Amino acid sequence: MDRGELLTFPASFEWGVASSAYQIEGAVDEGGRGPSIWDTFCHSPGKTARGETGDVAADHYHRWEEDIRLLSQLGVHVYRFSVGWPRVQPTGRGKVNEQGLDFYDRLVDALVARNIVPCLTLYHWDLPQALQDAGGWPSRDTARYFADYAAIVAGRLGDRVTHWITHNEPWVAAFAGHFTGEHAPGIQDPMAAFQTAHHLLLSHGLASEALRATCRRKPSIGLALNLNPVHPETDSEADREAAQRFDGVLNRWFLDPLFRGTYPEDMVELLQAVLTPAAEGDMKVISTPIDWLGINYYSRTVARRDPDFPLIEAVETHPAGREYSQMWEIYPEGMYEILTRVWKDYQPPYLIVTENGIPVADEPDFDGQVRDPRRIDYLRQHLAQVHRAIADGVDVRGYYHWSPTDNFEWAHGYGKRFGLIYIDWATQQRTVKESGWWFRRVIEANGVEL
Ligand code: FCB
Repeated sequence: MDRGELLTFPASFEWGVASSAYQIEGAVDEGGRGPSIWDTFCHSPGKTARGETGDVAADHYHRWEEDIRLLSQLGVHVYRFSVGWPRVQPTGRGKVNEQGLDFYDRLVDALVARNIVPCLTLYHWDLPQALQDAGGWPSRDTARYFADYAAIVAGRLGDRVTHWITHNEPWVAAFAGHFTGEHAPGIQDPMAAFQTAHHLLLSHGLASEALRATCRRKPSIGLALNLNPVHPETDSEADREAAQRFDGVLNRWFLDPLFRGTYPEDMVELLQAVLTPAAEGDMKVISTPIDWLGINYYSRTVARRDPDFPLIEAVETHPAGREYSQMWEIYPEGMYEILTRVWKDYQPPYLIVTENGIPVADEPDFDGQVRDPRRIDYLRQHLAQVHRAIADGVDVRGYYHWSPTDNFEWAHGYGKRFGLIYIDWATQQRTVKESGWWFRRVIEANGVEL
């Protein structure tokens, strides 16, 4: 690959951007929405940076028309967004809030009118608080309720939406939410974390059935997994084993059940003490064939053996001398590595990069423009790796950038900006960053210039 060379993508390649409800909508008390676990979590002292909450976020609930106009200016083909479960079912079961459905109905219409394909995520972590109070994801019932909710959304939007994602990053929801407690609902209980993982997977299968039974237009169903290549810190036997175990929890714990209908044996043996046996028939539901797999890729994991860490006796390390962003190591080759590995080991029908991006401390210059060369550089390098995977025969059909606008980055609050569009949090004014105009040129050219 030479500087100046144009890497062209396949003709039907889908260029998109991705967001999620709680991170952008705000208006948490409006339109009949019920509280979610993230509302509760953010309003508990000490849980998020500076005590920030998604109460207002990017005020997208009120500014959605402007936001869609901006998407159309960027020229994206696909907009991946999530439906907030507590907007549609304020208590997570039973009564449907039509006002909530109306909001997404208008959004979908507006996208279709502008020739932007809606890609709808059903769950991006905002469990209705009432379901948490009834046991949350560690309880099997939640999986059933999720399938009911999927059918409700499909009943209203399944005549126009064809791109469906059941779950976003079940690993994060399970382990950040129930093992480390860094995310809502802030639980620290390994057993609950593995029950959550299992019920998220089960609910993915149940919801897929519900979507296939309910959508008027044939749905194309996937889910978005956060997958990192895992490398040992050193070549020692101990570190290599640590990497294998980390990979077992982060990647194989989700890929194996989805594609093989089993949990990875080495991990089952290791984790016995905290696992609840799966009910008869669950693995069959979980491995219901998907139409495609979404991969969210940001970074790699480097692992080292640490006998003090519970269960897997392995921890993540951050090697010196590497390049880092505000949150993670910058490791573009990992994009190629994960795409080719999943393709070879699991043979998914096809892949989409459903998230990729970088937090940068962007600020407007004196002329009001937001120049973010670091983001452009990150995108260029990662897209080159997607291109390389495609050239090597991996069927990658799209790339969705995280995110269209700056937004509420969970426990990090508003300090981490991932957008192609800058938001001034005091005024909610939107400014397309240099990277946004750059991304538009990529889409127009259907290629990246190195
Ligand atoms: C992913 C999440 C997304 C966003 C990005 C930066 O883990 O799916 O909501 O926070 O990271």
